[in-house]
Amino acid sequence: MPITLKSAPEIEAMRVAGRLASEVLDYITPFVRAGATTGELDRLCHEYMVNVQHTVPAPLNYAPPGYRPYPRSICTSVNHQVCHGIPGEKVLKNGDILNIDITVIKDGFHGDTSRMFVIGEPSVAARRLCRVTFECMWLGIDQVRPGATIGDIGHAIQRHAEASGFSVVREFCGHGIGRRFHEEPQVLHYGQPGSGERLEPGMIFTIEPMINAGRREVREMADGWTIVTKDHSLSAQWEHTVLVTESGHEVLTVSAGTPPRPQAPDATG
Ligand code: MF3
Ligand code: CO
Ligand code: CO
Repeated sequence: MPITLKSAPEIEAMRVAGRLASEVLDYITPFVRAGATTGELDRLCHEYMVNVQHTVPAPLNYAPPGYRPYPRSICTSVNHQVCHGIPGEKVLKNGDILNIDITVIKDGFHGDTSRMFVIGEPSVAARRLCRVTFECMWLGIDQVRPGATIGDIGHAIQRHAEASGFSVVREFCGHGIGRRFHEEPQVLHYGQPGSGERLEPGMIFTIEPMINAGRREVREMADGWTIVTKDHSLSAQWEHTVLVTESGHEVLTVSAGTPPRPQAPDATG
């Protein structure tokens, strides 16, 4: 499948889907606290999507080749879980860090975004990992313009992650998105400047770096979905859906509660 370029009406539909995905994160934020279970967060998000937004939770029963159907409506990845954590009985406790990943379908189009949440007072190291990962996502977004390449995005992310003493997960990447959840291109979060596909106006894809505090290797749990760090080190992820415009880019997954871009995303520390 080639990379699809979205038309003006398709871009407008993707703006709507992107905003709605982000609004689910806004909605769930006050419920993300010590004592809550990830299963409760899933149930609340599911009901908000279906009953309030009239969106379809894209993860529910999603079954790419080689996977069993995903059993919940959102992904919740806690501490050393990298991505695709399945909500359940897990009780959030003081000091945990948590990624919530939301993908909604509205009028046939997908919006995909995730944020990190901290429970109470996490360690300095955990907060720094979340911050650097946020900066990595934004450094990747800042590369997006016509004529730049996928490799420019990956390189910017990898450079900041590794300069900060962290590692980039290789097995999962950003992706084109539109009528389908996962489309071309694959947006690797590492790589060489100038390599890979060249960006053109009308492309829409996600940038969603997964950054580990320790080694980059991951493994899949017996549930067939949850990905964890092999060395049990903490992992963080942020995700936006981004449109390539004539002059640069537009982030589509924005809402009232979207955290503002960092002041100095190139600052290492
Ligand atoms: N939202 C994830 C992504 O960013 C994909 C989750 S697939 C699921 O690509 F089935 F686990 F939900
Ligand atoms: Co995604
Ligand atoms: Co996602």
